[in-house]
Amino acid sequence: MFTAVYPGTFDPITYGHRDVITRAARKICHRLIIGVANNPHKQLLFSDDERLLMIEADVVEMGLSASVEVRSFRGLLTNFVREIGADIVVRGLRAVSDFEYEFQMASANHKLDREVETVFLMASENHHFTASSVVREIAAFGGDIHHFVSPMVAEKMRQKLAINCETRPE
Ligand code: PNS
Repeated sequence: MFTAVYPGTFDPITYGHRDVITRAARKICHRLIIGVANNPHKQLLFSDDERLLMIEADVVEMGLSASVEVRSFRGLLTNFVREIGADIVVRGLRAVSDFEYEFQMASANHKLDREVETVFLMASENHHFTASSVVREIAAFGGDIHHFVSPMVAEKMRQKLAINCETRPE
């Protein structure tokens, strides 16, 4: 059994993430664990549970629940990799601008634990510019995000932004 972990913030999960999940689960490993980072220092739109539940729903919709598991983790990724006994880390690579950050992260993780190797999947052509931050910005300005996220995630974003507007002080 070859296990890979696909870590990320997933705030929210996009079609770009789904592309990496599908390709990794079908071509790279027998078992894929999506590691949802729980970082109290990052200001996120969705809570840990909300992000986890949205990913789980997307995984079911993709028909991958037999081989893909979703778990949240806190602290260092290398510790999580060891804890779950994963063989590799999978990350998606979009434009050149991703490279430096990903290179730094893969190198740091490898320094922390020599057993941790990172494998990169080049983003498919139609997802080169798909990013959670872009989706959040488009949604915040009332734009159409259906090209980037599943209808369920789009609806959750609509609800979340409506709540945020209601609770925002004048
Ligand atoms: O989707 P993101 O935000 O690019 O994912 C980044 C993530 C969550 C993979 C990264 O921040 C991470 O691994 N965080 C856990 C803390 C850690 O191990 N940091 C050291 C690696 S530089």
